[in-house]
Amino acid sequence: MPELPYVAVPKHMAERARRVLSREDLLAKDVKARREEDMVLFPVRDAGRAGSVLEELGIPYEAGEAEFERTVEHRSVEEVLEDSFGWSVPVPYDVIGDVAVVQIPDELRGHEREVGRAIMKVHRRVRAVFERGPVRGVFRVRDLRRIAGKGPAVTEHREHRCRFRVDLARCYFNPRLATERRLLAEDVVEEGSTVLDLFAGVGPITVILKRFVPSVEVTACELNPVAYRYLLENLRLNRVEARAFLGDAREVSRLVGRFDYVIMNVPKMAHRFVETAVRCVRPEGRLIYYRIAPNAEEAFEELRRKADRPVELESHREVKPYSPEESLYRLVVRVH
Ligand SMILES: C[S@@+](CC[C@H](N)C(=O)[O-])C[C@H]1O[C@@H](n2cnc3c(N)ncnc32)[C@H](O)[C@@H]1O
Repeated sequence: MPELPYVAVPKHMAERARRVLSREDLLAKDVKARREEDMVLFPVRDAGRAGSVLEELGIPYEAGEAEFERTVEHRSVEEVLEDSFGWSVPVPYDVIGDVAVVQIPDELRGHEREVGRAIMKVHRRVRAVFERGPVRGVFRVRDLRRIAGKGPAVTEHREHRCRFRVDLARCYFNPRLATERRLLAEDVVEEGSTVLDLFAGVGPITVILKRFVPSVEVTACELNPVAYRYLLENLRLNRVEARAFLGDAREVSRLVGRFDYVIMNVPKMAHRFVETAVRCVRPEGRLIYYRIAPNAEEAFEELRRKADRPVELESHREVKPYSPEESLYRLVVRVH
C-alpha cells in the first residue's frame, strides 16, 4: 500500500470536500479515501494546495501522511489474461471516464467477455467495457458492443482538469488526442485571438483552448445534434463561454464572419471542406488543418490545390501514426 499525503475532514463535510478536491484535480489517482472514526481521509497530490482550497470554503481539516489501498490492480490486462489462459497478446484499449473501449485481437475472438472482465479487474473504476467496431458516417461515430459490466456508453471523462460528458455510442470522442489539444493551445493559438472550431464534436478543442488561453474568443460548429447537445453541456460544466452553432459547416461558414484561426478537425474528410474553411480565415489568419496522409507535404499540396486563396505552410506536427503508411498530421497554414 502506498504512503501518501492526505487531508482529513469531518464526515458530514466529506462529500463537499471530495467534490472541490476532485474539481481542482487534487485527489491522488488510483487510491481509495477511507473513514477513520468521524473523519474521512482523502489521499491528495499536494496537501498544501488541498488545505488552502478547503480553508477557503471554511471546511476544517487535518493533514498528514498515511497508507492507502489501491483501486487499480498493478498488473496489466495481458498479465490477467495470461493467468486465465496461460498465454496472451497485446490488447489495445482506452479508458474514457468509467467506460473502456477495446479492440479485440483476432487471437482473443470468442473470449470477449474474459477480455472485458480483465480490463475491469485492472481498472476498478471501469463500469462497462465495449468492443469497438469501425467508425461510421459523417458523424464519425464508432459501432460499440458491450462485452462486460453494465449501463450505456454515456460517461464523463477528465482531461487537463476539464470535464467532458459524452455518449460514445452516438458521438465522436478520442482521449488519445489529449496531448495534441494541449499543444495546440500552448504552442499555436495566440492570446486574444478569435477561433472557429468548425467540427467541434462534444467540444474538447473549444473547452481546452478556453481553459489554457482564456482570452481567446471561440465559435464552435457541429452537425451531429447529439454531439451538439453534449457540446453545450460541456461548455456549461466547464464554465466556458463560446458561441455554438448546430449545423453544416458549409452553411454556418456563411454566417459567422472571419477568424484569426479556423480549426478543421475532421481528418478523413478535411479535403472536402477546404473552400468552406478558407472562407472564414481573415487575411493573414491561419488554418489549422488535420489530415491523415503519408506525409505533411502531400497533405499540404492537396490543401493548396483546393484553396481559392494563396496559402503557405508555416509548421506541421505528426500527431500520431494511423497505419503503417499514414499518420495524422496537424498543419498550421497561413492564408493570404
Ligand atoms: C473527427 S470529429 C472531431 C470532433 C472534435 N473536434 C474532437 O476533437 O473530438 C469530426 C466532427 O465533425 C462533425 N461533422 C461532420 N461533418 C460536418 C459538417 N458538415 N459540419 C459540421 N460538423 C460536421 C462530426 O459530427 C464530428 O463530430
